[in-house]
Amino acid sequence: MVKSHSVHVCRECGTSSPKWAGRCPGCGEWNTLEEERHAVKHRAGAPTPTTSLRDVGEETAAVHSTGVGELDRVLGGGFIAGSTTLLFGEPGVGKSTLALMSLRALAEEGTSVLLVAVEESTAQVAQRARRLGVVPTGLEVAATASVEDVEHLLGDRRPVLCVVDSISAMSAESLGGVAGSVAQVRHVAERLCATAKSTGVAIILVGHVTKDGDLAGPRALEHLVDTVVRIEGDRQGSLRLLRAMKHRFGPTGEVGILEMVGDGLREIPDASVMQRGPALDVPGVVFTVTNDGSRSFLVEMQALVATGAGSPRRVAHQVSSQRLALLLAVLESRCAVNTSALDVFAATAGGLSATEPGVDVALALAVASAVGQFPVARTTAAIGEVGLAGELRAVGALSRRVREAQRLGATRVIVPSEGELDEVSGVVVHRCRSLLEAIAIVQRDTM
Ligand code: TYD
Ligand code: MG
Repeated sequence: MVKSHSVHVCRECGTSSPKWAGRCPGCGEWNTLEEERHAVKHRAGAPTPTTSLRDVGEETAAVHSTGVGELDRVLGGGFIAGSTTLLFGEPGVGKSTLALMSLRALAEEGTSVLLVAVEESTAQVAQRARRLGVVPTGLEVAATASVEDVEHLLGDRRPVLCVVDSISAMSAESLGGVAGSVAQVRHVAERLCATAKSTGVAIILVGHVTKDGDLAGPRALEHLVDTVVRIEGDRQGSLRLLRAMKHRFGPTGEVGILEMVGDGLREIPDASVMQRGPALDVPGVVFTVTNDGSRSFLVEMQALVATGAGSPRRVAHQVSSQRLALLLAVLESRCAVNTSALDVFAATAGGLSATEPGVDVALALAVASAVGQFPVARTTAAIGEVGLAGELRAVGALSRRVREAQRLGATRVIVPSEGELDEVSGVVVHRCRSLLEAIAIVQRDTM
């Protein structure tokens, strides 16, 4: 028996409700509910066989490299046949570029690939491809927005990897409605996931995010696919981070780093941010090592103070404004570094964000250095959280952070007095109980 019934699904959050309403019961947005028709099949009840879990052998799916090292890193080696990966990020962040780089690399080694250009013409895609270098033979592109076309293509050609750029503009002829609507996007994604499984083709779906950083259309997309990779970064800056938000076959928490340059995204496997800036010995610059997932990055914290007109401004870019406010208060009441009449600007160099508390002491030192007009040696890295009493508190992964600092050129580290730390050769370790002690150490250099 096949019966059709309709539900109303919110375009923003994916909440479904049986009745239409002006306001979504899930997220409270107005006019976001759209009708979706479902065919409900009732099967005659044949019992589903079960298996003893003990007898199920290990499945060893072959992992295929994407050809882009940093993407492989977040995927735990690459993609597997028949899987679907959602690659999403803000417009202009480099989703199409990254996907194309992977297709190029695979085509170069003779692997069959297919790009489905949904939003752009083949001429536009070709232009981007040429920007990345010589276009290899075998990099096939099809310009279509119809899921039926893609199903045919995949069934027919069976490429190893297919990129659909983007899922948001795809539609299904069989389903009425507007391309980009919740119902369409979800329906199309469901069909593509099924096609990936039945044909063994690995599919990367490119998706947009809305202004709030949510996936455009239903969040339900995240549940359909095997893997969700987010590409993030400040569009003004050049650094891009890749992160696996969900991964059915491998680790999440790995972070990949890339840099957008004139001919594509360059991999920065070492994240050697320390050595990239001009080696100016100016006050207000202090290096630290931040931790993200299982990786540590060297980050340059910068602070600038200035006498402004009117009420003092606090501007935090890629650092937490709450933590900055807290650190300014601690500096004033515990370390006699007064910024109450000054404008304070704090940022990281290069656009990498550093919002975890382990960067506190470096940010506070940067401000103290800017106020006191003494430079901190570029070979010093400061790691630790600052508490309200002005104490330095232990942070996670201290040994790894110190090793990373040493690897990238630090000869001295300032760390909290507490916290386990393995022996690291070639680096002087200063254990400090308070921010005041840390300031005294860096000040001593210039005396
Ligand atoms: P794109 O991959 O089109 O972003 P998305 O698909 O996420 O919207 O590229 C975004 C920007 O990157 C674009 O403004 C131009 C820039 N870019 C480079 O700087 N270098 C390059 O080699 C390429 C291809 C793009
Ligand atoms: Mg694009």
